[in-house]
Amino acid sequence: MKNTDRDAVKQAFAEYSDRYDSSDPKIKLKISHTYRVASLCDRIAETVPGAAADLTGVAGAESSPGIIPVDRDLAWLSGMLHDVGRFEQVRRYNTFSDAQSVDHAQFGADLLFKEGLVDSFGDFDPEQKRILETAIRNHNRFRIEDGLTEEYMAYCQILRDADKIDILRVNTETPLEEIYNVSTDELRSSAVSEEVRQGFMERRAILRSRRLTTADILVSHICLVFELVYPVSIQIVREQGYLDRILAFESDNEDTKVWFEYMRKTINL
Ligand SMILES: [Fe+2]
Repeated sequence: MKNTDRDAVKQAFAEYSDRYDSSDPKIKLKISHTYRVASLCDRIAETVPGAAADLTGVAGAESSPGIIPVDRDLAWLSGMLHDVGRFEQVRRYNTFSDAQSVDHAQFGADLLFKEGLVDSFGDFDPEQKRILETAIRNHNRFRIEDGLTEEYMAYCQILRDADKIDILRVNTETPLEEIYNVSTDELRSSAVSEEVRQGFMERRAILRSRRLTTADILVSHICLVFELVYPVSIQIVREQGYLDRILAFESDNEDTKVWFEYMRKTINL
């Protein structure tokens, strides 16, 4: 595996994102999201058994059964590149809605690996590129594709955990009206659909197409925690208080109020 020059990658990312209008809050948001997801990937990868840092001096560790050779630099890099498609998506369509434009993960992966954009970020070997492409193409899917090796699976899961944690952060740091593009009245009167409640009770993620109201989106973001794979990911969410803050949502809708009270009592992470 070739070494990753993180400074060169950051420089290349800055040059790439500079081509877009950084006065656009949507672009700004994606730049900071990218750096945060990359450092979360790094932090999560550090805890994955077999992460490169843990293997130093451990003879034969890479070939031991059950130890997945995760390279922290590569995990970090997947975070740096995972949302490259967002910039062109916003420029062309002025939206982050994949349903109304393109699937940003496939779009980004095509730019990187079909059109060769990845080469502007460094010199990577074919295996590194395959891992990156797999992780990026799978990062926004409802379920990771079947048939991946444990190693490929680990990179996919690390990136997905990191992305979910940062989505939770955005939900606590940005006014919900802004994220969901709704008025305060609409937000506070919003109901939670039956199917979305069901998803919470079954402790699973909610399909985007099943979210009918703004409160549904909020609940679906809460449900992201059920799909976090690594203990450190749950630890970060707890430490940062992201979940408590989202759960503290104040609704004017009586049913929604009761529902949020129920979630606060039962979530038990
Ligand atoms: Fe993404």
